[in-house]
Amino acid sequence: MSQTPEQPQPAAAPHGADARRGPFRVGDRVQLTDEKRRINTITLQPGGEFHTHKGVLPHEDIIGLPEGSVIENADGFRYQALRPLAKDFVLSMPRGATVVYPKDAAQIVQFGDIYPGARVVEAGVGSGALSISLLRAVGDAGYLHSFERREEFADIARGNISTVFGGEHPAWRISLGDFQDRVVQLEEPGSIDRVVLDMLSPWECLDAVATVLAPGGVWTNYVSSVTQMSRVVEAIRESGQFTEPECFETLVRGWHVDGLAVRPDHRMVAHTAFLITTRRLADAADGIPKAKRIKEHSYSDEDLSAWTRDHDENEWTAQALGERGLSDKKLRRAARDANQSVRVRAAHAEGAEQD
Ligand SMILES: C[S@@+](CC[C@H](N)C(=O)[O-])C[C@H]1O[C@@H](n2cnc3c(N)ncnc32)[C@H](O)[C@@H]1O
Repeated sequence: MSQTPEQPQPAAAPHGADARRGPFRVGDRVQLTDEKRRINTITLQPGGEFHTHKGVLPHEDIIGLPEGSVIENADGFRYQALRPLAKDFVLSMPRGATVVYPKDAAQIVQFGDIYPGARVVEAGVGSGALSISLLRAVGDAGYLHSFERREEFADIARGNISTVFGGEHPAWRISLGDFQDRVVQLEEPGSIDRVVLDMLSPWECLDAVATVLAPGGVWTNYVSSVTQMSRVVEAIRESGQFTEPECFETLVRGWHVDGLAVRPDHRMVAHTAFLITTRRLADAADGIPKAKRIKEHSYSDEDLSAWTRDHDENEWTAQALGERGLSDKKLRRAARDANQSVRVRAAHAEGAEQD
């Protein structure tokens, strides 16, 4: 007699999954691609309108339609409407600090070994781009504790994360302050599975990382310049508490495919950042060093001071590393934009309750 296989029970949808399905709703972000393949991202609002020199498209014409619909405005100009994927969202979302690019977030999840249920800490949260990938990877049953020293950035990240997950994520917690001070106050020693740092001077966090990371835990660093990479690698080696660091970068080159004209794209994002991964050794274990270490330095003391501990800490500024400064006005605007979806959904829900 043949046995009927047991049917898997439908699990509750993971957080944010329902907000990504079904017809367009108020508060959704929608990516409109026009006939010239220009892309605009809008947030659907009752009574809202999308204006261009090609005419007006009322949001009501989009609300209720399935994703992938093609909509014509009153002047006959057409738009293809889709919810942005996470990779589209992070590149178009309001931002203060520079975001981790999707290609690098993918590498961090894989090489940083971020898994469902993992207990992860990260800093700085910046605009929350990497936090979105980390939350998707740890899932509802995981834990992500993000640290950020600047409140304006934390506000932007909160808005962006709420927009992507359609509200607060159950696995997410954010704390203000310097990672190296706060993480040891808020997390038990050896209780964290994975650490991810994206900041100017991650070597300042070495002792804190060594304290909270469990033996075997993975520490991933994301830095934009070779001087930072060199300094953090030397600090990791010098501490003796971690495995030999691995360093790499990822280049992604798009291709143009059209009939017989098949070739690499002319333009690409040539540089974003370097990744450095290492693992926490058990206390009192001696790491296995690299097979061959450089014995004699062929660089000057001046060069060396740029990445060793006697270097003046105040010289590691965003400007010195070639990053742009941000005005308070720009940050306030980014925080307002990041929280737009949250405000629209709340106002809409309040209106519906009063009706
Ligand atoms: C490049 S941004 C991070 C971007 C973020 N990972 C993302 O994908 O959107 C660097 C952030 O680190 C923060 N930061 C720098 N040093 C820090 C520290 N010691 N503790 C906490 N945050 C720090 C800065 O304020 C800034 O927001």
